[in-house]
Amino acid sequence: MSGSLKIGLLGRGTVGGAFAELVEQRAATIETAIGREAEISGVLTTGQGDFEQILAGADVMVELMGGTDPARQYVLASLEAGVPVVTANKQLLAKHGGELFAAAEKAGVQLRFEAAVAAVVPVIRVVQESFGAVEFSKVFGIVNGTTNFILSEMAATGASYAETLKRAQDLGYAEADPTEDVNGADAAAKMAILARLAFHTPVTLDMVDFEGIESVQPDDLAYAKELGLSLKLLGVAERLPDGITVRVFPCFLYPGHPLSPIEGPFNAVMVEAPEITEVTMSGPGAGGQQTAAAVLGDLVSVVTGDAPTHHAPEELEVLSDVASSFYIHLEVADEPGVLAEVAKMLADHEISVKSVVQRGIGSDARLVMVIHQCLESRFKQAIGEIGRLGSLRSPPRYIRVIEEEFV
Ligand SMILES: NC(=O)c1ccc[n+]([C@@H]2O[C@H](COP(=O)([O-])OP(=O)(O)OC[C@H]3O[C@@H](n4cnc5c(N)ncnc54)[C@H](OP(=O)(O)O)[C@@H]3O)[C@@H](O)[C@H]2O)c1
Repeated sequence: MSGSLKIGLLGRGTVGGAFAELVEQRAATIETAIGREAEISGVLTTGQGDFEQILAGADVMVELMGGTDPARQYVLASLEAGVPVVTANKQLLAKHGGELFAAAEKAGVQLRFEAAVAAVVPVIRVVQESFGAVEFSKVFGIVNGTTNFILSEMAATGASYAETLKRAQDLGYAEADPTEDVNGADAAAKMAILARLAFHTPVTLDMVDFEGIESVQPDDLAYAKELGLSLKLLGVAERLPDGITVRVFPCFLYPGHPLSPIEGPFNAVMVEAPEITEVTMSGPGAGGQQTAAAVLGDLVSVVTGDAPTHHAPEELEVLSDVASSFYIHLEVADEPGVLAEVAKMLADHEISVKSVVQRGIGSDARLVMVIHQCLESRFKQAIGEIGRLGSLRSPPRYIRVIEEEFV
């Protein structure tokens, strides 16, 4: 191919700006990798550029605007014009992935999006390409750095959620409006993308149940420490006998779990399949430069490589009632028989207790326990009944636990 590779750049903010710089800094390496020079031939921001003109002059489009509108129209128009696209836009793919993948396939051009999940950690490539022919049983991990920073800090300092969020904002680990991060929606979008790729099933954001970290209390973390647990916001996509489950929730892990040492604004994703056992990848889950490096990697692959294999879709139901283990925190009246009463209610629902910590006296008495796995619907019934006990001083708190213990 003759002439330079013309890159249309939609968005030049944190990631787009870093990407433009990287294209300049790494010019010689890029030329060696793709066999010709690369140049940014047009840039679109809110105050600069015309999309149609940029498209007419582009060999490849890099979408780093964010949001679904007008990013969706621009990405579709590029693909339909036979121009491959690289994007970091998780919302776009989680909501409109089906339409975009179909447009790319129809046009016979690539759509790459490594940076949309866990930024620079190459999870998309691993799921789609390295292990493109295995049957995944589970893909799960910490896919939001903001919440991981907040939970690590709360555990280390004992500070409240609100104080720690403020600190995360001051340090640049949380946005001025952190809603999508702390309520789990950002992680849910990434899990929709991962689940679609891992299970070849059209999972979209609206099929992912998600919970955030806003109601985590410092004393949950303190008591959990006594039980040897650390708290993470996990995204979990799992193949079960009757379908798949794709969820995001705060969750305690036992020590030795490969994800328990992941602290601060880092991301980590584990993939499991019978053929591969388990593989864990971790690294920075955000940042202009890091994300831009993943975008540049995709750009090189678009020019030099084949598109990942397209799999025939599998008909898999997305299940919502699955088995989980839970940590329960009860503020109780300091009187005899409360533990026996709670244990009986759990036993009535065939729920067995794994460990118990009883602490405090008088108005500070607490009962903290971990129960073995049971169907979540059964657990919710039991906890509803426990919540009506006269001996409780406040509504029960509960958080899921990954029961698996590693040696
Ligand atoms: N930041 C990260 O660490 C990170 C990590 C992973 C993935 N991502 C993803 O990367 C993408 C970009 O994120 P970012 O942090 O770089 O965002 P950003 O700093 O807000 O930059 C967005 C850019 O897009 C332009 N833009 C937005 N709406 C536009 C519109 N309607 N028309 C034309 N231009 C428009 C903005 O123009 P102006 O310059 O005129 O405002 C700006 O240049 C998002 O999809 C994000 O989810 C970001």
